[in-house]
Amino acid sequence: MKIALITGGAGAVGSATARMLAADGFSIVIVDRAAEAAESLADDLRRDYGVEAIALSVDLSDLAALTPLMDRVATRFGRLDCLVNNAGRTGASQIADVDLDEWHDILTINLTAPMMLVKAGLPLMRRAGGGSIVNVASRVYLSGTGVGYTSSKTGLIGLTRALAVQLGKDRIRVNAVAPSFLNSPFNKGIVDANAGLADAFSKITPLERLGTSEDVAGAIAFLASDRASFITGDILHVCGGAQLAPQPA
Ligand SMILES: NC(=O)c1ccc[n+]([C@@H]2O[C@H](COP(=O)([O-])OP(=O)(O)OC[C@H]3O[C@@H](n4cnc5c(N)ncnc54)[C@H](O)[C@@H]3O)[C@@H](O)[C@H]2O)c1
Repeated sequence: MKIALITGGAGAVGSATARMLAADGFSIVIVDRAAEAAESLADDLRRDYGVEAIALSVDLSDLAALTPLMDRVATRFGRLDCLVNNAGRTGASQIADVDLDEWHDILTINLTAPMMLVKAGLPLMRRAGGGSIVNVASRVYLSGTGVGYTSSKTGLIGLTRALAVQLGKDRIRVNAVAPSFLNSPFNKGIVDANAGLADAFSKITPLERLGTSEDVAGAIAFLASDRASFITGDILHVCGGAQLAPQPA
């Protein structure tokens, strides 16, 4: 039985990924601070796909909770085949508005927690004989947007590359996906504040639409699968071609 752990698993991209990986036969560990939504998704996965699924309610900004989290995975499943570092947050956009606590929180959730989860999960992946780590970065590493968010997601790409080089000998592949602006609740705040933004993103996208959570989940499921068996250290843009265009705002 292959096990996949997805952080932010109860959110838009996370839940679409959980469904796709469950359809591919993975048993699923959903990690999210939204406990009720995570439990309800685990129920759905067991019912709809016949896989094992558990929800672990953890706030990833509590770094001390991450090793005990992996200990629970070890006790329950004894191995880990796929780690999807998907949870993320944004914050103040402009440098003048940056608050240091918020800056630290963004870097903790988007960059430090993924690194800590890899560190804590390594023995379980080695026990499985290898595996796949997929970090959910963002197109912003190419174009820039909010300072904390862009810095954290660019750092996550650096982490992806460093880990790919270090963990190849363990048969652990490490890749990132870089989605562009999605049609998802994650963007509700900025879309509410800037009515034209979603349209502006569609206009810079050669495929002429916004991405969906399923678009991103499909790329993650590919990188998690044996179909990507010789791909590591790569950044898969899930942007409809918008990685080639300047940021519209
Ligand atoms: N939506 C977009 O336009 C977009 C574009 C590029 C990249 N991304 C990235 O995709 C990822 C998923 O985004 P989404 O659109 O599914 O967002 P979402 O808000 O729907 O889901 C995020 C999930 O992460 C969980 N989460 C957030 N902080 C957490 C914490 N500290 N501890 C535990 N759980 C936490 C939330 O509860 C939520 O379930 C994020 O990393 C985001 O940066 C999103």
